[in-house]
Amino acid sequence: MTVLVAYASVTGGTAEIAEWIADELRATGLDAHSVPAGAVPDIAPYEAVVLGSALHMSGWHADARRFAQRFGPVLAGRPAWVFSSGPLEDAGVCAAVPPCTQAVNAMRMMGTRDHATFGGRLSEEAHGWLGFVSRRMAASGHGGDFRDPARVRAWAREIAGAVQTAQRT
Ligand SMILES: Cc1cc2nc3c(=O)[nH]c(=O)nc-3n(C[C@H](O)[C@H](O)[C@H](O)COP(=O)(O)O)c2cc1C
Repeated sequence: MTVLVAYASVTGGTAEIAEWIADELRATGLDAHSVPAGAVPDIAPYEAVVLGSALHMSGWHADARRFAQRFGPVLAGRPAWVFSSGPLEDAGVCAAVPPCTQAVNAMRMMGTRDHATFGGRLSEEAHGWLGFVSRRMAASGHGGDFRDPARVRAWAREIAGAVQTAQRT
């Protein structure tokens, strides 16, 4: 089965999470591709979809929102999962962060209740306003990489199990 892992990322942290998910899905024998959400022309080739977005100012990236609006109605019952990446907190705190309003809307449009919040990574190399704010946040002690590859990969294995079960039925 072919699985799309679509993501919206500004400074690369969420892109890497999407690649960890795709990598883990491939390890179970699935044909998985991580692709920027804004660069997906069509979801017809995919039998299951994962959509993730970075969180900025409590909201989802526009590319992820547009992806859900455009493709949610044509998913037609294909299994879907959603994740957000952002909190600069330990994994236990991140796991308890509920989806933001835009993620909830995406879940509704994509017909799924499966959502995970993963920790983010503050990149001080970001450009422009984002870079300025990121460096200020880092200087005030809010920097670092709070992504947890093991937790992300464990979530991906759950997806793989569900996709393979759906394949058999
Ligand atoms: C200006 C700014 C605002 C942010 N706002 C949020 C937020 O509202 N909620 C959150 O969980 N993380 C927030 N973050 C953390 C980012 O989501 C985190 O750095 C994330 O890993 C960025 O993903 P990306 O590298 O894929 O763009 C913010 C970061 C910056 C620089």
